[in-house]
Amino acid sequence: MPVILGIESTCDETGAAVVVDGYDVRSNVVASQVELHAKYRGVVPEIASRAHIENILPVFRESFAEAGVDLSGVDAVAVAHRPGLIGSLLVGVTAAKTLAWSLGKPLIGVDHVHAHLYSVALETNRTPSMPAAGLVVSGGHTALYRVGEGWLDVELIGSTIDDAVGEAYDKVAAILGLGYPGGPVLDKLAEKGDPQSIHFPRTLLGRDSLDFSFSGLKTAVLYHVRGVPGRGQDVKAGGPPELTEQQRADIAASFQAACVDVIVKKLRRAIDQVGAKSVIVGGGVSANRGLRAALNKLPVPAFVPPMKYCTDNAAMSAGLADVYYREGTFSDLDLDAVTYSQFRS
Ligand code: KG4
Ligand code: ZN
Repeated sequence: MPVILGIESTCDETGAAVVVDGYDVRSNVVASQVELHAKYRGVVPEIASRAHIENILPVFRESFAEAGVDLSGVDAVAVAHRPGLIGSLLVGVTAAKTLAWSLGKPLIGVDHVHAHLYSVALETNRTPSMPAAGLVVSGGHTALYRVGEGWLDVELIGSTIDDAVGEAYDKVAAILGLGYPGGPVLDKLAEKGDPQSIHFPRTLLGRDSLDFSFSGLKTAVLYHVRGVPGRGQDVKAGGPPELTEQQRADIAASFQAACVDVIVKKLRRAIDQVGAKSVIVGGGVSANRGLRAALNKLPVPAFVPPMKYCTDNAAMSAGLADVYYREGTFSDLDLDAVTYSQFRS
């Protein structure tokens, strides 16, 4: 029964979790920085790293207290060491190394995006039939994977060539003058709108392509709201446009329908190309109600994480580390923090 401490600091959430046996989540503490970044409508890296430094020790303490274990009860220390913002990653990686070294326990570095896929196993202890088509949809990632023979056999088969889908949600919310992060706000608003009221583009790229592109969709929403420059239309500049609640809801519903359509079409392609027996979805956007409903109509069973494990958390890293632990695969104390630009996972 390995007891693993997980640490998350890849972006703007500081997390610590204690997970037993890879699925039994004894604690999962997340200190969100949303309020710090809200006024900038996106994550400011320097602010994020400073907040991680302030948050990490209180988050550790709370995680141990909630789990009812002390430091000596931990069998290994796991940390998401890639990909992410370098200053943010360094806080978690340094904390993990320090703890592992001082406790004399193994260190296990895991890939944050692979951990998002693993999150479907938390609490439930489910293992989807493999090979599976994996999809990670978040603010930083939109990517498809072939998950072959187990959780460590993960191969990238497609990714976004521009914006991530969560990023498109955040930007569209900004265009409409709504709050940050945009995903949950638009998801809620979409329920009151007509998804067929506006036809926004669905960018599918090549016929067999598993890559994504969301920047055209985001621009289409901008032009819909403000007018198209150079077409003799009245282009509105300045702050958020004056729209009725119903107009906003219709835009949200139509935008969401376009996102979900594209994601589902790409998933169907991935299922065919991989010969997938199941679909595994993770990341912040997997909380989306429209997407969750559409996943039920796929030809193979779809696994999505419990809501609280969709967004960034440390439990998913501790869970994935359990697989490495059982294999006896550990990291050295010179484990690197690896950013987005250095790495495509
Ligand atoms: O996985 P996550 O916490 O962080 C990254 O690794 O990026 O994902 C955050 C993203 C944000 O862009 C947020 O707007 C989006 O997930 N998100 C949603 C929903 N909840 C969060 N997008 C659509 N619908 C939601 N319900
Ligand atoms: Zn993430």
